[in-house]
Amino acid sequence: MRRRGPAGYYEWLDFNSPMTDETANRLVARLAAGEPRRILDIGCGWGELLLRLLDACQRATGHGIDRDGVLIDRALANASARRLRDRVTFSAELADAEPADLVLTVGAEHAIGTLDEAMAHLWTLVEPCGRLLLGTAFWERPPGPEQLEVFGPLPRLDELVDRTVAAGWRPLDLQVATMADWDRFEFGYLRNWEQVVMAATDPEAADEARSAADAHRAGYLTRRGVLGFAYLTLGRPAEPSR
Ligand SMILES: C[S@@+](CC[C@H](N)C(=O)[O-])C[C@H]1O[C@@H](n2cnc3c(N)ncnc32)[C@H](O)[C@@H]1O
Repeated sequence: MRRRGPAGYYEWLDFNSPMTDETANRLVARLAAGEPRRILDIGCGWGELLLRLLDACQRATGHGIDRDGVLIDRALANASARRLRDRVTFSAELADAEPADLVLTVGAEHAIGTLDEAMAHLWTLVEPCGRLLLGTAFWERPPGPEQLEVFGPLPRLDELVDRTVAAGWRPLDLQVATMADWDRFEFGYLRNWEQVVMAATDPEAADEARSAADAHRAGYLTRRGVLGFAYLTLGRPAEPSR
């Protein structure tokens, strides 16, 4: 569901992460099978995954946190349109997070800290026997110097999973973003500019949009297949009873 925001504001995206409906449906089906009762989404954006999960889990309630008020307005409008408004709340502060049996953080663990800091903090927010969906970037192939400068020293997939295990988590499921997920995401992002290029009668506005789009597309096509994105479902085991 789309809501017109400021120009360039993710208008043509359903998710602010590399995710097609196919990938989202698979994630929602698998996470919903655990019958979560309370879902917390940290860095929820406009909360699309959270809303789809609430739709699939009729007995669950949810809370989404994002510091971007424009995105939260879009989340609230979508929640109302889908009659989910009585089961979901949103707020801006990470400090509002309360433990839940399913926690989502997709493309947002940096809001908490480094990967290791996020893994430790998220442990306190996932109830024992609960699950965490971590959506995060990794290097699928060794990056070039420019990519390294932009995205930093990301782990490989095996290193990423090992680091979650070292923090006590159990890897329960893994879905890696496909090329279709990435193309949908990046070309959806580009579309705001391309709409301007296609429709602009003002040559200055068209030039500005064209160079922004060309730079972004070139960056994407050189990192395509190099930058990966993992949807990792992690379990927090039960507390030992001693
Ligand atoms: C890459 S987007 C992912 C959004 C969403 N999870 C999705 O997949 O569509 C990351 C989100 O984290 C939010 N964010 C970043 N730092 C934050 C912070 N310190 N507190 C709350 N939200 C934050 C941003 O506003 C942004 O909407």
